[in-house]
Amino acid sequence: MTEFKEISPLELQENAFKLIGKDWMLISAQNQGHVNAMTASWGGVGVMWAKNVAFVVIRPQRYTKEFVDGSEKFSISFFKEEYKKMLNYFGTVSGRDEDKISTANLAMMFDSGVPYYKESKLTLFCKKLYSQQLDEKSFLDRKLIDVWYPKSDYHTLYVAEIEKVLVKAESLN
Ligand SMILES: Cc1cc2nc3c(=O)[nH]c(=O)nc-3n(C[C@H](O)[C@H](O)[C@H](O)COP(=O)(O)O)c2cc1C
Repeated sequence: MTEFKEISPLELQENAFKLIGKDWMLISAQNQGHVNAMTASWGGVGVMWAKNVAFVVIRPQRYTKEFVDGSEKFSISFFKEEYKKMLNYFGTVSGRDEDKISTANLAMMFDSGVPYYKESKLTLFCKKLYSQQLDEKSFLDRKLIDVWYPKSDYHTLYVAEIEKVLVKAESLN
């Protein structure tokens, strides 16, 4: 698809704090021929084990977790501001109840079996390297537990190698 151009993670121009924390991202994975996606605004990008990595955190009750756990790879997609309402939908409705991708009318595409979207402006294709559920005993700031885990539903942290970055050609202008 000529609409997208592959760039190196080093060529990324966007501010990761804004991109993830403010604009939000869609985490998508395919498992046994089915795809599910959810919105996330916690996570990051950086360097680990001499690799360019992304990390995301997913609570145990998310349907998407089953897909990320069942697959070697997942994608992280970013969209223009006009898709914010759609990201809110993906972040408030579960794929257990609705086929969110069909309802949102997203044009899903695949790169080596990993889902992404024609509408996205940027997608990071990630291969899982490490996953571990956050451990109550390891929190040094105990206040975080009261604020974020009153139900003890500790996130699982996934660190994944960024294997490929696709950016929409028009976003480069
Ligand atoms: C802005 C926003 C950010 C979110 N960030 C996360 C996150 O980082 N991790 C997480 O587990 N859930 C996060 N959620 C909640 C999930 O997106 C939400 O529970 C979603 O409905 C799960 O869908 P699923 O059951 O189809 O996986 C976020 C929701 C919103 C609206």
